[in-house]
Amino acid sequence: MLPRCEASVCHVLMLVLCLSAAEDFDWTKNNHGAFYYGTFPAGFSWGAGSSAYQTEGAWDKDGKGLSIWDVFSHKKGKILLNETGDSSCEGYYKIKDDVSLIKELKLNHYRFSISWPRLIPTGIKSDHINEKGIQYYDQLIDHLLENKITPIVTLYHWDLPQVLQEKYGGWQNISMVNHFNEFANLCFERFGNRIKYWITFNNPWSVAVEGYETGEHAPGLKLRGMGAYRAAHNIIKAHAKVWHTYDTQWRGKQKGMVGISLSGDWGEPVDISNQKDIEAAERYVQFYLGWFATPIFHGDYPQVMKDFVGRKSAQQGLGTSRLPTFSPQEKSYIKGTCDFLGIGHFTTRYITQKNNPSDRSSSSYFTDRDLAELVDPRWPDPGSEWLYSVPWGFRRLLNFVKTQYGNPMIYVTENGVSEKMSCTELCDEWRIQYFKEYINEMLKAIKDGVNVKGYTAWSLLDKFEWDEGYSERFGLYYVDFRNRNKPRYPKASVQFYKRVIASNGFPNQREVENWRRKAVETCSSSNQLLAAARRNSKEHTEMPKVWPEQRSTAANILRLIHDPLTSHMEMVTEIVVPTVCTLSILLSAIFLMFLLRRRN
Ligand code: NOJ
Repeated sequence: MLPRCEASVCHVLMLVLCLSAAEDFDWTKNNHGAFYYGTFPAGFSWGAGSSAYQTEGAWDKDGKGLSIWDVFSHKKGKILLNETGDSSCEGYYKIKDDVSLIKELKLNHYRFSISWPRLIPTGIKSDHINEKGIQYYDQLIDHLLENKITPIVTLYHWDLPQVLQEKYGGWQNISMVNHFNEFANLCFERFGNRIKYWITFNNPWSVAVEGYETGEHAPGLKLRGMGAYRAAHNIIKAHAKVWHTYDTQWRGKQKGMVGISLSGDWGEPVDISNQKDIEAAERYVQFYLGWFATPIFHGDYPQVMKDFVGRKSAQQGLGTSRLPTFSPQEKSYIKGTCDFLGIGHFTTRYITQKNNPSDRSSSSYFTDRDLAELVDPRWPDPGSEWLYSVPWGFRRLLNFVKTQYGNPMIYVTENGVSEKMSCTELCDEWRIQYFKEYINEMLKAIKDGVNVKGYTAWSLLDKFEWDEGYSERFGLYYVDFRNRNKPRYPKASVQFYKRVIASNGFPNQREVENWRRKAVETCSSSNQLLAAARRNSKEHTEMPKVWPEQRSTAANILRLIHDPLTSHMEMVTEIVVPTVCTLSILLSAIFLMFLLRRRN
């Protein structure tokens, strides 16, 4: 026990040091208000989400072609511990199981994505259509509908057919626009009688920046300063084309909607009285969400992007801006191609102005913005390194969307938090806290007049978390990846989310507190179930460990607070030790008195 005690003291000391070293921001200026008790508008849609490559597995089964993620994850050194999505949650074989989990939560909708190479193995429609792939999605859709769950379908959640990458350079090439449109058209034709919500792209920011600028994601290209802008340009055109295809060929009979799911962190000025910080924070959001949303709602890139990338390009001696331009015809073709806007949001940053050098060698999307990102070390960060829980940022982002893009219809398509655990932990109190506070900020945004129609918790299951492998768990349901059957276990947050859905919000403090308490109580029995299954499992293999040292200090503190062993330790010091001491003193006193009496 002693080393653990020392570790706790050490962590507390580290946090104190860390806090005193932190920037001296004026936090009092950010008054983020109290919890708001109330309900969502009638008909508000509650859901959870997943994506094909992250959950399906069956990467080479039933005629599926290779995607860029299949190839990328099989290269050594690209993914943490060289994990792959080859089998992942085996979702391909578990339609019934997963729909029953969705039913258990009483969700109104379920968001999933279609794997392009599962339907069209080479990505080129005229080559071959894989009917077995069509059958799989047919079954999933039918099963959802039989259970009164509305499917929300994403057409592109990052798994481009590998052939298109090899042959054309993927999203660097304008020919993707037509290939993607043909794939989308096939989906409208085969599934559109049952699907009313289509999302063209999921988080194109990540595709562009991490796929073609930093190379952390597939296809792993590092085309700094150019690649991301070119990929985004083609993606925006592809989105617009698919929207028009639906609008002219399918909307009349199918009566659905086509949107896009954009991600955006909120950027808050470090010093809200400093004009330079205010502008830097605005730039941060414009380079993130605005990069895609502004062309789609207003027909062109944000002015600030055109100005900054244009100026830097000129300073670098380039004849034209590295940010491509849309022709007048393209602008009017792209403008207004969004029936609803999907928002994926997880976290917030403090932003301050920072001038970056303009030489050609350091040119990149990141340096183009002339800003620095900061975080408050007191923000909880229970999982992914980048994911700090800052609920008030969510309300601000939603209000930003309302004012910038004419109050569009919004579906929150992703929101949630991960955990890094080397051992079983179904009592995810920090996730309950995250959901409670973020959903509450969304409720406040609706009261502000933001037109949010639905919310999608990310994610239904733990799954393959891209370059982080299986080390970050976002699921409401825990997946035992060590077991070949990939069994699912409910975390405490399932109980909590279920109650939010059943009440369509937060009725009153007493009840909401009760939900939290009950959820945490029931999870210990699920924990025991999982532990027993582990003991009995013959397939038990050692999982990679994420060592505590790899976690940030704040995360360590949080873990200590929630660690059952630590609370047991506290109980021992607070109750058992004093009781034993008192009893020993009493007994010694009695014994002494007895001895003295005998002497007399
Ligand atoms: C956004 C991505 O769309 C999703 O696939 C991923 O799991 C989450 N970010 C969390 O990293």
